[in-house]
Amino acid sequence: MKFRVVLTALLAFAAISTSAQAQDIEAGKKKAEACVACHGANGNSVAGAFPVLAGQNPRYIYLQLKDYKEGRRSNPMMSAVAQGLEKQDMQDLAAYFGAQKQVRTGFKTDPARVKAGAAKAEESLCAMCHLGGMSGQNEVPRVAGQHPEYVLNQFKNFKSRERHNDAGNMTSLAQTLSEEDMTNLAHWISDLY
Ligand code: HEC
Ligand code: HEC
Repeated sequence: MKFRVVLTALLAFAAISTSAQAQDIEAGKKKAEACVACHGANGNSVAGAFPVLAGQNPRYIYLQLKDYKEGRRSNPMMSAVAQGLEKQDMQDLAAYFGAQKQVRTGFKTDPARVKAGAAKAEESLCAMCHLGGMSGQNEVPRVAGQHPEYVLNQFKNFKSRERHNDAGNMTSLAQTLSEEDMTNLAHWISDLY
């Protein structure tokens, strides 16, 4: 008897959280119109300066928006955008972009760089946090298929500690990477899609 009560409560909770998520995606779609100019339709940005958001982990997107708003990560464009977002907006946007299908960027990778990047990634244990295929989990971003230009910029920002909202994971790792390593890793990542 007790078991059935608990089970019913659990099922009801599951139903609520599923519909809440669907509502978030729907609300996020509308709010995402403010992002399309830079991040592209459905979060598949065309220019390499703007990160692909389609298929990114919602938890990671949410935390980055919060960091931009609260000044832990800064960028002239994104810090301004985030100022106008409330918690619910960030959650809706994260749910929407996370649910979109990522498409290939069309970047032509250099096979020699992809190979060298793969070797460096193995040596640096990237998959320990980003998982196999660099697909990410929760607050660890999916980087597979990301624009090389954006990735290279982030490596440099981590190395110079201009970006330091990573609890030390990436800033310390980046100290061990040369510009050549970073470029190779960016090609390898781009090729993972
Ligand atoms: C004027 C152009 C512009 C607009 C509009 C814009 N962004 Fe951005 N966005 C950028 C740039 C440039 C970056 C990379 C900044 C950096 O290096 O920190 C970025 C980064 C991000 C990131 C971090 C991604 C990552 O992989 O770490 C998120 C999340 C994001 N934007 C979400 C949004 C959302 C949601 C909107 C709409 C509400 C939006 N952006 C609107 C230019 C823009
Ligand atoms: C100890 C865990 C850990 C390891 C190992 C690690 N990462 Fe990360 N990485 C993270 C976390 C956490 C973030 C997000 C930091 C934040 O919230 O700003 C991140 C962010 C990144 C980003 C920025 C993504 C974006 O969208 O802005 C790139 C690119 C990246 N990692 C690539 C790599 C590569 C390549 C390796 C191996 C050479 C690696 N990482 C190893 C934990 C790790």
